[in-house]
Amino acid sequence: MTSASGTAEFDAIAPGYDASRGGTARAAGFAEQLAPLLDPGLPVLDIGVGTGIVAAELTARGHVVYGLDLSTGMLARALERLGPRVAVADACRLPVRTGSVSQAVSTWLLHTGPDHGMVFDEVARVLRPGGRYLVIPAGGTRPADDIGVVVGELEDRLDPLRTRQDGPRTLAPIAEARGLVYRGAASERPTAFRVSPRAMARSLSGGLFTGAWSVTGDGATRLVAETRERLLALPDPDVPRVREMADFVMVFEKP
Ligand SMILES: C[S@@+](CC[C@H](N)C(=O)[O-])C[C@H]1O[C@@H](n2cnc3c(N)ncnc32)[C@H](O)[C@@H]1O
Repeated sequence: MTSASGTAEFDAIAPGYDASRGGTARAAGFAEQLAPLLDPGLPVLDIGVGTGIVAAELTARGHVVYGLDLSTGMLARALERLGPRVAVADACRLPVRTGSVSQAVSTWLLHTGPDHGMVFDEVARVLRPGGRYLVIPAGGTRPADDIGVVVGELEDRLDPLRTRQDGPRTLAPIAEARGLVYRGAASERPTAFRVSPRAMARSLSGGLFTGAWSVTGDGATRLVAETRERLLALPDPDVPRVREMADFVMVFEKP
């Protein structure tokens, strides 16, 4: 796995990224979850800032946010939102002084492919003692509706080694091996959204699942095509399902 995996895909999907991922409502929700865990008097480093949509919501709540990302396509939008506080950088090689960061966040970064060990090496290096790294995983809890079953199977088949898993079971041991303490999950927030099987099938073709899968190329294309067919074969494929999940924040601290 390379540190830059998936970034070309993010360049390609950048123009439609925000709208296809819940837009401002998702970003505001994440900001509401993160804000109580952040000190408003200290700057925040957003690693994998993307289009800056979450960072902008934190900024609106009084935080000063700096953002790093590898995708220039995503960063172009972040630059509009955050101005010159964003830069192109690899989460696995942060251009930041050792021991200089009090608080860092990543939302929906670690499932996209960067090597988890390398990211936590860097986070452990740049945090100052007492500093925190707050992570909102993409995994959350999986919706249990019929779309969720079909899409969950796709995710498992594209990632048989679970390298995209970004929950506490995967990340806590990696962080603790680097001297960080996992303080647990905070700010749990149930969410629900509506999507029909047909809309989900369309999103799959549009690159909904980006990141570093063990299965790529034709193999991945075939699996996605099969999944589309299964989604369209579900009963009432045009009727939206209410999909229930919960997002939470993982808190890592440097003692
Ligand atoms: C799913 S998006 C999430 C963006 C943003 N945090 C949000 O919640 O809207 C993942 C982002 O991580 C970035 N990314 C992936 N690997 C990276 C790496 N090694 N270093 C920096 N950014 C990376 C991608 O370019 C993309 O912008």
